[in-house]
Amino acid sequence: MRVIARYGGPEVYWTEYFRVHGDSRPEKWILDSITKNPTGRPVVAQLIGNDIPALVRTAKLLQKYPVAAIDLNLGCPAPIVYRKCAGGGLLREPARIDAILGALREAVTVPFTVKTRIGFDSPAEFDALLPVFARHAIDLLTVHARTVLQMYRPGVRYDLIAQAARELKCPVLANGNVFGAAQAKMLLAETGVRGLMIGRGAIRNPWLFDQIRAELRGETVKLPTGRELLAYIHELWDNEITPGIRESAQVQRMKKFTNFIGEGIGEKFLHDIRRVEATADFWRVCEAFLDHDEPMPLEPLTQKIP
Ligand SMILES: Cc1cc2nc3c(=O)[nH]c(=O)nc-3n(C[C@H](O)[C@H](O)[C@H](O)COP(=O)(O)O)c2cc1C
Repeated sequence: MRVIARYGGPEVYWTEYFRVHGDSRPEKWILDSITKNPTGRPVVAQLIGNDIPALVRTAKLLQKYPVAAIDLNLGCPAPIVYRKCAGGGLLREPARIDAILGALREAVTVPFTVKTRIGFDSPAEFDALLPVFARHAIDLLTVHARTVLQMYRPGVRYDLIAQAARELKCPVLANGNVFGAAQAKMLLAETGVRGLMIGRGAIRNPWLFDQIRAELRGETVKLPTGRELLAYIHELWDNEITPGIRESAQVQRMKKFTNFIGEGIGEKFLHDIRRVEATADFWRVCEAFLDHDEPMPLEPLTQKIP
């Protein structure tokens, strides 16, 4: 959040999800993103879980902090989560979602929002989910237009996001593979949503938010140069460094970011950066590809066609 905000950043941030169960307490490192929010913009607290009393207790507790909204995650596709019938796993049980939304709607006095996928194993499930969201007068719905079992594979159903925007009274945000300013403008027009939620694209291209705003104002979109991208990777490194951590562990941590960023650089970069272990090699590869002043569109290699 701190790094992204320096590049303009979004109008509002979501926390990583707080894991909620019988005896959970909000994780300190996630709470920090609310109490030490470095962005100057609102932050929404997201919860994941299925234990109604625990969700209500946690939502009430988190509302004592400066949160813009409480959000429920109905999208996480990690098997360890969905097998416990939390996150995306709940999409198999609309009646259970109904009960959770009813209880949270009553407990939450700040805006109450939901982030969902379009179904568990089939987009056909979306038709049955929309009335459940409508019944509880949620304040905003974010739709990641893939099924849970689809994980992150191609086939994003923006048409179903448009259906949600048409059928629900609340504002809808579109999510999934937003990667460029022109595409973002097209998506907003095609789906009729109120806004976009951006995940991996923000890490790959932190300029994206300003680029989209420029595109929507009809201005020329400014692309970063290779050297500016290199400076961004340095900033991520400085932000992520953990004193005393092993060199290989630090490089490993950075690879989580360069896996996304590299999608916007090229196959050869991804190939080389995935194989480095030492700090010096990490920077040698980054400099070999980025020490130049050419513009970088930073659009993903593999996901241009949703
Ligand atoms: C490493 C990683 C962690 C994520 N954590 C969360 C999370 O805590 N809560 C959430 O709602 N979505 C989470 N997501 C999903 C994204 O918010 C988003 O829905 C998904 O990546 C598709 O959008 P994108 O193509 O813009 O990334 C995560 C995704 C990734 C790759």
